[in-house]
Amino acid sequence: MSERKMITAALPYANGPVHIGHLAGVYIPADVYARFQRRLGKDVAFICGSDEHGIPITIRAKKEGVTPQDIVDKYHEIIKKSFNDLGISFDEYSRTTSRKHYEVSQDFFTNLYDKGKFTEDVSEQYFDEQAGEFLADRYIVGTCPNCGYENAYGDQCEKCGATLSPSELINPHSMLSGNVPILKETKNWYLPLNDYEDFLNDWIIEGHKDDWKPNVYGQVKSWLTDGLKPRAMTRDLNWGVPVPLPGAEGKVLYVWFDAPIGYISFTQEWAEKNGKNWKDYWQNENTDLVHFIGKDNIVFHCIIFPAMMKAHGDYIMPKNVPAFEFLNLENDKISTSRNWAVWAHEYVEEFPGQQDVLRYALLSTAPETKDNNFTWKDFQTKNNSELVGIFGNFINRVAVLIHKYYDGVVPAGNENAEELREVSKHAREIKTFLENFEFRNALSSLMNLARFGNQFLQSEEPWKTIKDNPEKAANSLFIAAQIAVGLAQISEPFLPFSSGKLLKMFNVDQQNWQEIENEKILIKTGHQINPAELLFSKIEDETIDFQIQKLENTKQSNAKTNPNAAPMKDEIQFDDFTKIDLRTATILEAEKVEKADKLLKLKVDTGVDVRTVVSGIAESFTPEELIGKQVMILLNLAPRKIRGIESQGMLLLTTKPDGKLAFVTPDEKVENGIEIG
Ligand code: MF3
Ligand code: ZN
Repeated sequence: MSERKMITAALPYANGPVHIGHLAGVYIPADVYARFQRRLGKDVAFICGSDEHGIPITIRAKKEGVTPQDIVDKYHEIIKKSFNDLGISFDEYSRTTSRKHYEVSQDFFTNLYDKGKFTEDVSEQYFDEQAGEFLADRYIVGTCPNCGYENAYGDQCEKCGATLSPSELINPHSMLSGNVPILKETKNWYLPLNDYEDFLNDWIIEGHKDDWKPNVYGQVKSWLTDGLKPRAMTRDLNWGVPVPLPGAEGKVLYVWFDAPIGYISFTQEWAEKNGKNWKDYWQNENTDLVHFIGKDNIVFHCIIFPAMMKAHGDYIMPKNVPAFEFLNLENDKISTSRNWAVWAHEYVEEFPGQQDVLRYALLSTAPETKDNNFTWKDFQTKNNSELVGIFGNFINRVAVLIHKYYDGVVPAGNENAEELREVSKHAREIKTFLENFEFRNALSSLMNLARFGNQFLQSEEPWKTIKDNPEKAANSLFIAAQIAVGLAQISEPFLPFSSGKLLKMFNVDQQNWQEIENEKILIKTGHQINPAELLFSKIEDETIDFQIQKLENTKQSNAKTNPNAAPMKDEIQFDDFTKIDLRTATILEAEKVEKADKLLKLKVDTGVDVRTVVSGIAESFTPEELIGKQVMILLNLAPRKIRGIESQGMLLLTTKPDGKLAFVTPDEKVENGIEIG
């Protein structure tokens, strides 16, 4: 067992906030592990940061009509804050747009280039002549050759799920300009992954059969069985780390080349600030490197990044890559674009002071070996029956009774009682589970200790024995106090906020894990404790119903019954609506506007007045058929000159499937000038 732990958590893309799927499948388990290793006294570096390059960022920027830099600046802050709010104890949380990262990732590239580790290859890529840019897969849309869906991406059809390459799309066009892209030759640098097959086979397939998770091992094995191919480590894009070679203008490092190097550059940033030597963490065989990731990242952390580090030659390989499966929400796939998620920053706002509840609920449903499901009802039950009903209840009874009977001073009891072994037993059990990345089991073990404490109090009944057998009552509470302090100590990796409160409440310092495993007496007779503080409180049905309703609203707004319907515009307030003056009116006269095929000049009785309206409806109606027709008019639209005629208002029309227009009219004849609303 190595004394140094280099722990990384996948760098989240700074293209949106983090949600419970990220938290349950990467960040909370990684944090539990890091905190636990610190408690073991290990020299820990727990490193993460925002992944700010790549297509997910540029796509989001385009969608919001801002620059990629705007996007990453915004989301980096939001993400960083929510991690901090939830007690994710990164030693460093940086970002891949940092100067240091540019330097480190470019040096890494140059190092490999100088050693001749890349191959150069010229290939034909789609190029948008108007935008002057090569098009990444996601920037090309066209018809799916598989299902005929017209908006398939260059790498995937979101309708049928087929994996595509841009050249397979029928009618490809550029998302940037809408134009048909041309094929243009471009040179890129490739890492011949096939050269690393033997190394990967020996290291993972032979070496980690028994200690890596089956989902990780299995995926690597199947990649290796299929055989690896050279993979481009540079891209023709204008957002990313520039390729540090002459003649590589307009090219950047592949985001999956630069992002994992972020682990290294952020460690360097941290080391510089803290007087450490970063090489101890990355280039020393006595260090355990552990990557926490989601399952979609396996190939990058078990094949590509290790091949890069191997090519470089100075780096250690990861000891383990615990990858998690996915978390669903209310039985549906979590999706940022469909807003089907519980967002970390919203949770923090809506459940102030209840960070540990989310940590607990997510750890207990962590998708360790298969996809798992989060429901709000389950969240409520976990809080009310376990955290409040068992854990909080036990601690509270112990503290309250010690205050009531002994003025807050721990009474005397049997220092060799059998029950005192329970704490160390659970501490050892949790250690074994955590060393095997079994977070759910570790958490159950913690809760079982609280259960044990509760049952112990229940069967001892000190509130009864205090009257006729005070010595027994004292013994019961002495033992209960040891268990309570044990819980305060070993809950820290899981429930850091509550653990902090508990240690304060019992007026004790944090101890090393080994001490908890070995010492029976965690709080001495005569020790003064502080007043009992409420740890957890019941979550009411209304709170849960509110969250469920929020998701229900999302579901309804996502349900598009007509795929051709445009998305809803930004929400307005009722006041905005009342500014609009809509009335019933009747067309009195209609004539063509000279030299304008589409326009008709109309005289309209609005009830308020008779006015002139110019309307682009000549291709859908003849003037004759309009006379006497009841219509709706937007009365208070500022007048506009159209072909020299002042148009005073606008008639309401919609479009029929054949492209012709149709009037929006009341379904019965009404007077003119009646308000609509
Ligand atoms: N941003 C990637 C994702 O969210 C993860 C990057 S991990 C790193 O899937 F290793 F590349 F940093
Ligand atoms: Zn398809």
